[in-house]
Amino acid sequence: MVSIGTPASAENGSATPNPATAECDAERMLQAGDGYHPSANEITPESEFLKKRKSSILPLEVGTRVMCRWRDNKYHPVKVIERRRVHCGGPNDYEYYVHYTEFNRRLDEWVKLDQLDLDSVEAVVDEKVEDKVTSLKMTRHQKRKIDETHVEGHEELDAASLREHEEFTKVKNIATIELGRYEIETWYFSPFPPEYNDSLKLYFCEFCLNFMKRKEQLQRHMRKCDLKHPPGDEIYRSGTLSMFEVDGKKNKVYGQNLCYLAKLFLDHKTLYYDVDLFLFYILCECDDRGCHMVGYFSKEKHSEESYNLACILTLPPYQRKGYGKFLIAFSYELSKKEGKVGTPERPLSDLGLLSYRGYWTRVLLDILKKHKGNISIKELSDMTAIKAEDILNTLQSLELIQYRKGQHVICADPKVLDRHLKAAGRGGLEVDVSKLIWTPYKEQG
Ligand code: ACO
Ligand code: ZN
Repeated sequence: MVSIGTPASAENGSATPNPATAECDAERMLQAGDGYHPSANEITPESEFLKKRKSSILPLEVGTRVMCRWRDNKYHPVKVIERRRVHCGGPNDYEYYVHYTEFNRRLDEWVKLDQLDLDSVEAVVDEKVEDKVTSLKMTRHQKRKIDETHVEGHEELDAASLREHEEFTKVKNIATIELGRYEIETWYFSPFPPEYNDSLKLYFCEFCLNFMKRKEQLQRHMRKCDLKHPPGDEIYRSGTLSMFEVDGKKNKVYGQNLCYLAKLFLDHKTLYYDVDLFLFYILCECDDRGCHMVGYFSKEKHSEESYNLACILTLPPYQRKGYGKFLIAFSYELSKKEGKVGTPERPLSDLGLLSYRGYWTRVLLDILKKHKGNISIKELSDMTAIKAEDILNTLQSLELIQYRKGQHVICADPKVLDRHLKAAGRGGLEVDVSKLIWTPYKEQG
C-alpha cells in the first residue's frame, strides 16, 4: 500500500489536505511567520507573568482567535472551532480544532497547545461561534434534516440553516481512508451512518466502494467481492483510461457509497440520498488487477437549469495530473452529443473554479486563435457546448470583451491570446471522442 500524506512531500498527487489553498490564497497570506514567537516553555523574565496569564486564559474558549504554528513552521491566524480534553491530562489540558482563517476549511485540524502562541490570544471571543456552540444541541431529526438539505452554498441557505450546517460539519469525522493502493487524508466532514461515528479511519473496497471499519473486514470482503471495475457500462476506453456510466437507480448502494466517499473531499455539496436521479461517470486507470477509480463526476438525468455536471472529484493522489480537465471536457462532450449547452452546478469550490476557468479559457482561446473573422458568443457556445454566460464571464475576466458602438465585441489580439493561453496552464488529458460510445439517457419503460 502506498501511504502518502506527509506535509513535506505535498506535491503532485499528494493525499494530504491540499495546500493548494495556500497557493490559491497566497495573495491573502500574512507574513505572520516572520515575527518572533516565544515557545510556551521558554524561560524568560516574564515566565511568572506568562504562567498567570496562561492560567487565566486556559482552556481557550471556542471562538478564540489566536496565532497557530502550521506545517510550514510559520504562524497563521486561526479560530478555535472545537476543543477536547487530552486523554489523562490535567484540567486545562485540551487539544483544539482550529480553522486557519486564511485557508480553505479542508486544512482545519486538531492542534496541541504548544502550537498556539498564547501571547497573540485576542481578548474578544467570536460571539457568533460561541452562540452556535452553546445554543445548538441537535436532535437526530435536525441532523438528518441537514444531511438531506440541499446544502449548495452559503448564498442559498438562510443564516440559521447555514449555522446548523457549519455547526454539524465543523469537525472532520473520518481522518483517513484506505482505498486501493492509497491511504488518503480526508478534507471535510461526511455524514456516514451513525455506526461509523467512532471510526477515525475507514477501509473502502475500491471496486464496489463498500466501506468497513477494520482492515480484516476489508480483506475478507476482497476475497469475496467479484467486481474488478465499477458497475455499469464502460462507455469510453482509450489506452489505460476507461470511463464507466453508472445509473444511480440501478446501482443505488454504489451511488450512495460514492457520495459518502466524495463528500470527504467536497465541502458545501449535497449528499444526495436520492441517487436515482443521477448518472455517475467514473474515470478509471486500468491494469491487470482491474479498473481503479481516479475520479468521477455526477450528472442529473434531467436538469432544468441546464447543469451538465453536479459534482466533480479527482481523488487526491491523482490530482494535478490533468484528470480534472479530462472530466470537465468529458462532461461537455456528453452535452454536445445531447445537442445541449451545459454548465456546472453552483457553487464551484476554489479548486473547481480554478479548473473550470482553466478549461474555459483554453477551449475558447484556442478557437479564437484559429478563427478568421467575426465570431459571436452564441457561435462559440454552439461549438463548445459551454453556456453563453460562462463564455461571457470568462472573456470578460480576461478583458477580451469591449463595448463598442453600443454592442459587446470580442477583441482577440493574437499576442494577448497567447499570453492568456500560457497563463491558463497545461491542456490536461485529451478526450478522444472517437472512443466514446454513448447515447443520451432515456427513461425506460
Ligand atoms: N493548486 C492550484 N491550482 C490548481 C490546483 C491546486 N491544488 N488544483 C487544480 N488547479 C488548477 C490548475 O490550473 C490546474 O491546471 P494545471 O495543473 O495545468 O495548472 C487545473 O486547475 C486543473 O488541473 P487538473 O489536474 O486537470 O485537475 P485535478 O485532477 O487536480 O482536479 C478538481 C480538479 C476536480 C477540482 C480537484 O481539485 C478536486 O477533486 N477537488 C476536490 C473536490 C472539488 O473541489 N470539486 C469541485 C467542486 S465544484 C463542483 O463539483 C461543481
Ligand atoms: Zn467490493
